[in-house]
Amino acid sequence: MSSENQGQFGDTIGQPTVTVVASYDDMSRRAADIVAETIASDPACAITVPTGSTPVGMYAELVRRVKAGELDVSRVSIFCLDDYRGTTWEDPASLTKLLKHEFLIPANVPDELVHYMPTMADDAEQATAAYEEAIVAAGGLSLAVIGLGPNGHVAFNEPGSGPETRTRVLDLTQQSRDQNAAYYEAGAKIPEQAMTMGLGTILDAKRIVMIVNGEAKAGIVKQMLTGPMTADLPASWMRLAGDRFEVILDQAAAAELDQTR
Ligand code: GLP
Repeated sequence: MSSENQGQFGDTIGQPTVTVVASYDDMSRRAADIVAETIASDPACAITVPTGSTPVGMYAELVRRVKAGELDVSRVSIFCLDDYRGTTWEDPASLTKLLKHEFLIPANVPDELVHYMPTMADDAEQATAAYEEAIVAAGGLSLAVIGLGPNGHVAFNEPGSGPETRTRVLDLTQQSRDQNAAYYEAGAKIPEQAMTMGLGTILDAKRIVMIVNGEAKAGIVKQMLTGPMTADLPASWMRLAGDRFEVILDQAAAAELDQTR
């Protein structure tokens, strides 16, 4: 991307922060700290949070804090990041179902403040535009917590996605469908399409925190942070957020980074 294009995806000041912590539990606690700080400074803010296996520990920590009376999520708006096209959270294989069971239900987030991906809408274009408008109406995202797909996707922005992309329907790669099948009981059928927040939508957030753990992602983490910004590796575009982008890695995920600097 040429330098004259930079700056149209929110403020780009400074460099992303990379925080390497000792363990998965430390990563989860650090991410939970940021979610809690964000909500404490604006209890009625809007945030988005991911699904998948990575955030499970963060959710456990957030739920613990809610139950201990240390965190109040009763006014926060949650915008779902992605799900499969044509699935509701009540389907056996749904990303929102995971979010519901790990966080929204045990933390007692009011359902009227949860914005579900309009995956069932007949008119996806109209529904995704309305989803974007709802984010703006909520004051924009104060925080986007995101994961990293093994092929470099963020939410479900698969390779080929650029930094201008908005909430939309797109085709899933076979790699992502296979990866996602592991979340469910054997034989679960993963749809061919997803509805996802766009990279541009995420880049508009005031703060973006990516959590990554495990040695399997060490290579993609290195490419994301040190290679070119490219649609072949959609997560690399997050660097356009400059110092609004923080990556929290456990030691294993950071293994291929030069940590001597
Ligand atoms: C999934 C989801 C993403 C998630 C990513 C990483 O397919 N669409 O939102 O962040 O892939 O998943 P995991 O944390 O299970 O590695």
